[in-house]
Amino acid sequence: MAVVRRGAPSSRTVTKVDFFWSSVRHKQFDTSELENTITMSKKLEGKIALVTGGSSGLGLATAKRFANEGAKVYITGRRQNDLDAAVIDIGHGAVAVQGDISKMADLDRLFEQIKNEVSKLDVLFANAGGGEFVPLGEITEAPVDKWLGINIKGTLFTVQKALPLMPAGASIILNGSMVSVKGFPAFSVYAATKAALRSFARTWSVDLRGRQIRVNVVAPGTVVTPAYKNQLGLNDEQIREMESQAAATTPLGRAGMPDEIAKAVLFLASDDSSYVNGIELFVDGGAAQI
Ligand SMILES: NC(=O)c1ccc[n+]([C@@H]2O[C@H](COP(=O)([O-])OP(=O)(O)OC[C@H]3O[C@@H](n4cnc5c(N)ncnc54)[C@H](OP(=O)(O)O)[C@@H]3O)[C@@H](O)[C@H]2O)c1
Repeated sequence: MAVVRRGAPSSRTVTKVDFFWSSVRHKQFDTSELENTITMSKKLEGKIALVTGGSSGLGLATAKRFANEGAKVYITGRRQNDLDAAVIDIGHGAVAVQGDISKMADLDRLFEQIKNEVSKLDVLFANAGGGEFVPLGEITEAPVDKWLGINIKGTLFTVQKALPLMPAGASIILNGSMVSVKGFPAFSVYAATKAALRSFARTWSVDLRGRQIRVNVVAPGTVVTPAYKNQLGLNDEQIREMESQAAATTPLGRAGMPDEIAKAVLFLASDDSSYVNGIELFVDGGAAQI
């Protein structure tokens, strides 16, 4: 009978640990087992993910992360050329479905295709959206209708129409913005739409009680993407100015990178955040915290 001293490791443990350290010391450590473990521990293996607005910027960076972590990724966007390029960039059998999130028929067609092809949706990154600068006093109906129509109505119906496909354990991430809690000049229409998304996450986490579906918001800070030219209409010099303003007002002293947002979205999408629900996760270098 083996005699085990109180507090001493078992002889089996000692042997394994000794073997490990002696292998490392003698550079004989077989890394194939470690590599297998890493391969097997992909965070979204077997999952189906949808990234709206996955053809550019933060959506594209996130779609790439999701695909690298084992997910089958669907992306949407209005411009077919950008979708085609993104599908090649993402690889891993990504699928693009052209459509506008503010059009109900497009959303119906999107979810019909996902239902027919894979019959479920584990992760939804409701990212498509945007805004423009319009100072108070010059706001007309057009930008209000446009951005509320895309950011609020489009996101709401994206989520609602996705729900029948979402099983227990699914995760919804809404792309908000740090402007939900900060005042930037001439950005009130956009900021209000992002504050609405933050509110949606609170209420929907309660509405989905019992279904085990989590809803969270990611709130990026300044991250230069094609939107700065395409939507905000900034030129190169104005973009550089915006970046240096961000650097000056952010504790980390710089603007963010798209993949830094993607990493946070991956956290919210995966089981790593299994008990995180209804939050707004600021990914802004600390800008909204000071
Ligand atoms: N970049 C930042 O600093 C920042 C900060 C905070 C929050 N955000 C948010 O992050 C999200 C992505 O922005 P981004 O900076 O990555 O911009 P982006 O590079 O311009 O990408 C926007 C993506 O959304 C798609 N999209 C826009 N409107 C759409 C619609 N109605 N229906 C379907 N797809 C649509 C675009 O494709 P099509 O144009 O071809 O449709 C594109 O794929 C937005 O919700 C934005 O508000 C960005």
